Amino acid sequence: MVKTYAVIGDPIEHSLSPSIHNAAFKELNLDCTYIAYRIPKGQLKEGVESLRDIKISGFNVTIPHKIEIIEYLDELSSECKVIGAANTISNEDGKFVGYNTDMDGFLEPIKKRNIGISGQTALVLGSGGAARAIVAGFAKEGAKKITIAGRTLSKVQEMSKFASSLGVDSEHTTLNNLDVSKFKFIINATSVGLKNEPSPISTNAINSEHVVYDIIYMPMNTDLIQQSRKNAATVIYGYEMLLGQAVLAFQIWHKIKAPYEAMKKVLLGGF
Ligand SMILES: NC(=O)c1ccc[n+]([C@@H]2O[C@H](COP(=O)([O-])OP(=O)(O)OC[C@H]3O[C@@H](n4cnc5c(N)ncnc54)[C@H](OP(=O)(O)O)[C@@H]3O)[C@@H](O)[C@H]2O)c1
Repeated sequence: MVKTYAVIGDPIEHSLSPSIHNAAFKELNLDCTYIAYRIPKGQLKEGVESLRDIKISGFNVTIPHKIEIIEYLDELSSECKVIGAANTISNEDGKFVGYNTDMDGFLEPIKKRNIGISGQTALVLGSGGAARAIVAGFAKEGAKKITIAGRTLSKVQEMSKFASSLGVDSEHTTLNNLDVSKFKFIINATSVGLKNEPSPISTNAINSEHVVYDIIYMPMNTDLIQQSRKNAATVIYGYEMLLGQAVLAFQIWHKIKAPYEAMKKVLLGGF
């Protein structure tokens, strides 16, 4: 029988996940299919029940459900418990088990480049769901200090507390007048750039010592990425995180190595 997978969220029609996973199924000749399923805010309970009814094999979760989904799951991985959000659900003998592959998916492109995180300093812009997984990732890898910058004081304060609760030295600040010279990593986890806006921070002081990672994947070349590349920083693209989390989700569901190149090819072709 064909196994069915899905990504749930709202909006969902522009999600690249169906293309990525269906390309992997084709590459490995798996009798599986992956669809996008729009579940509006406020309808998650009914949506998850319908996924149970059709005995879905697994699904990804995106905006706005990554936190609320936890309520409807039977078990949680340790990452989910720490982050408080899930993006990958596996149907394990009728039990919905939650995982979070955003954290390791974020870390993967850094590790691939052999860039060490232990003992380093990071500036994280934004304090939404993605920022939480990123902060947890830096904490897990032994970062020395994490600075959270954003526009809503209460939210950056809370994110900074979250970092401290994971045992990392942390501080919070606004997006204006940031001195970027003291950071090794600069991460954009705001949604500024999605609509081709200018970088959320001044890029003048970014240089070849910096690793600049913009998790926005559409457009691929955000203003922050373009300016940082001009200034000779090491840049990491948002599509690499998207691919990283998809590869890890694939491996949770299918228990085999994901066909990375086939998934990357279709993803880059989609831009
Ligand atoms: N590459 C990947 O695999 C991947 C994975 C997940 C997310 N993403 C991308 O990451 C971004 C954030 O996702 P999320 O799930 O964390 O969303 P979210 O929970 O909605 O958080 C959005 C963040 O952006 C901030 N923000 C929005 N507009 C801003 C502005 N004009 N100036 C300053 N800050 C602003 C928000 O600040 P306030 O709290 O003040 O509103 C909040 O901190 C999205 O663009 C998403 O596409 C990429």
